[in-house]
Amino acid sequence: GLLGIDVGTSGVKVVLCDEKGVCHAQTTREYPFQQPRPGYVEQDPDVWWRETALAIRDVIRAAGVEPAAIKGIGLTGQMHSLVLLDKAGKVIRPAILWSDQRTQAQVDWIADHVGVEKTIQYTANPPLTNFTATKLLWVRDEEPENYARIDKVLLPKDYIRYRLTGAFATDVSDASGMLLLDVEKRCWSKEMCAALDVPTAWLPEVYESINVTGEVSSEAAQAAGLAAGTKVVAGAGDQAAGAIGNGVVRPGVVSSTIGTSGVVFAYADTIVKDPQGRLHTFCHAVPGAWHVMGVTQSAGGSLQWFRNEFAQLEQATANLIQRDPYELLALEAEKAPAGSDGLIYLPYLMGERTPHLDPLARGVFFGMTARHQRAHFVRAIMEGVAYSLQDCMQLIRDLNLPIDHVRVSGGGARSPLWRSIQADVFAQSVYTVQANEGPAFGAALLAGVGSGCFATIQDACDELIQTSGSTEANAANQAVYQQYHHLYGDVYRSLRSSF
Ligand code: XUL
Repeated sequence: GLLGIDVGTSGVKVVLCDEKGVCHAQTTREYPFQQPRPGYVEQDPDVWWRETALAIRDVIRAAGVEPAAIKGIGLTGQMHSLVLLDKAGKVIRPAILWSDQRTQAQVDWIADHVGVEKTIQYTANPPLTNFTATKLLWVRDEEPENYARIDKVLLPKDYIRYRLTGAFATDVSDASGMLLLDVEKRCWSKEMCAALDVPTAWLPEVYESINVTGEVSSEAAQAAGLAAGTKVVAGAGDQAAGAIGNGVVRPGVVSSTIGTSGVVFAYADTIVKDPQGRLHTFCHAVPGAWHVMGVTQSAGGSLQWFRNEFAQLEQATANLIQRDPYELLALEAEKAPAGSDGLIYLPYLMGERTPHLDPLARGVFFGMTARHQRAHFVRAIMEGVAYSLQDCMQLIRDLNLPIDHVRVSGGGARSPLWRSIQADVFAQSVYTVQANEGPAFGAALLAGVGSGCFATIQDACDELIQTSGSTEANAANQAVYQQYHHLYGDVYRSLRSSF
């Protein structure tokens, strides 16, 4: 068997597949995040580990396999989030998550002291509040006593690797999001580390995603019900692992994924950069390849916020009748027409990355009238997220990367309505992929390559990943959305200075 572990923002997901890549069991265990102040988002890494160990136990039990029959483990998880360990390997402070927006002062500091152009030259990307290095500098500036204790700087999945194997290691795709990697050469950037005064000894060793980084220790084996000695491959950031699970391993195939964040992800054979840095240029989990991606901070996160704050009744009903609360919300949204009768939503609840790079941007409902019902609000959220993803698509086209075939995944692809909205807003068909268990599945495939079940990751994808359905764009809706997408852009531009 092959185990894939995704240490996500809203929970951990573990899948167990056979050596042909067919998944036989999966478990998700949710955990919360803390928002101690506006714009702050934190989690306790030891909660990730506790829940991961329990989820591994559950999935092995559910699949009825012998732990010793697991040939390899692949790790993936939320990207960018900062985990700090002291000399004893203990967590120094709660992880500062990717969505946390507290680091504008540090972004400005990098712009002043290193320069945006130099930062792009060293790391392929500009300084942004999401990137790990800015979070590290925030600790330097605001919590010097914690900074003084740092011995290791890790990403979420790499903390789980440390708990599983004792090794300090990461992979090129996840490391790309730290603003410390030379993305072109696929190793730590000595220049950037020197410019930020970050000792490279703090950083884990960098591997290509398919390579083995260590083996499960006997202590971890006991905690998680695994066999000691099981191989753990480097794995990938959740976006790159998700792309593997979607078969985005060739030019022209592009994915649109709505999880907490929303991401449009395109494969690239060579390194390509948006001159304004609005798309990220990162290493892919395919050895020797790169990708670009645009990120909407609050995609599924927008609907989750709405569910938590305004749909408690639906939540309770959903629990009673054992339905997905999002399914009930989507059914309601269907009652509103395309364009939500002029109600427009800007999904900037956590600031925005692509295309605005504006951590101060805020969520907006624009154009409310007394005729609007709750259904319009739900639909407007789904439409606003799709407009934001279309902004990402446009920037990718501007780099002359082809978009021939769009694959949708994540929570947003489960809803037939959200799939149609995406097809209509993108003005092209969107496809779903069979048996897609998301990034955890991609991580399991990486483990499959690392443990010799597949020759290459492209081979694994060709053999295993098939589309399961398509949603065509509707011409009438397409026209409505094109018009409202313009207005959506105007609303942001009018409000920009007021945020
Ligand atoms: C990607 C990003 C998010 C997290 C979500 O750049 O910030 O998609 O990876 O887990």
